[in-house]
Amino acid sequence: MNEKFSVPVHTAIIMDGNGRWAKKRGLKRTEGHKKGVEIVRRIVKASADYGMKFLTLYAFSTENWRRSKEEVNFLFHLFVTAINEYIPELKENKIKINFIGDPSPLPDFVKRSIQHAFNETAGNDRMILNIALDYGGRREIVQAVNKILSLGKKAKITEETFKNFLYTAGQPDPDLIIRTGGEKRLSNFLLYQSAYSELFFTDTLWPDFTEKEYLEILKDYSKRERRFGKAT
Ligand code: FPP
Repeated sequence: MNEKFSVPVHTAIIMDGNGRWAKKRGLKRTEGHKKGVEIVRRIVKASADYGMKFLTLYAFSTENWRRSKEEVNFLFHLFVTAINEYIPELKENKIKINFIGDPSPLPDFVKRSIQHAFNETAGNDRMILNIALDYGGRREIVQAVNKILSLGKKAKITEETFKNFLYTAGQPDPDLIIRTGGEKRLSNFLLYQSAYSELFFTDTLWPDFTEKEYLEILKDYSKRERRFGKAT
């Protein structure tokens, strides 16, 4: 990478289109997810190499429980296998893995695996990789409100202090949110944190997403002027 451009501090990605990718090839949906994991690996590595500090990937939403039992089960086993295989590479690249979402409804073997990956990579500081697992933006906000109520806080909550009660406490908001797969919506992703994020939608299905397209999006982002409501 010779050309200079300003890399977002925090990028978040909605990885959509695995099922359609598989269908187009006459394969089972699960084959699309398998291919999707390979792309995750490459995009994570590329992000750290570009100097990004936070990368958040939407792996499983609160709504994804509505899929067939077989697909949900497959996804959980795929996450666990991928995460376990991936730990040495995360360590090598000094990437810390973090999970955002409510772990309580997840099966025990998934909970154990995410705790293990978290512990194994806790000392790394080159980039934080947030995996959104059983994540829902509305639920995150409601849980934050309930936490505040349970603490019986008397002091006024501000927009900034409210953030301390979100799963992403202590992290900057995403500068850029990318969605693959052609849909143009946020689907309950980072609702509070996305207030000023630049949005980028591509028709490319996640398993076809490449480092080259990623780099083009990052360069496009770097040309956008972010005013946060101010006049130029
Ligand atoms: C959306 O495609 C994709 C998912 C719900 C799963 C995403 C998971 C991965 C890419 C694997 C991630 C792995 C790790 C370790 C983080 P879809 O099934 O909704 O596709 P469709 O819209 O074409 O049906």
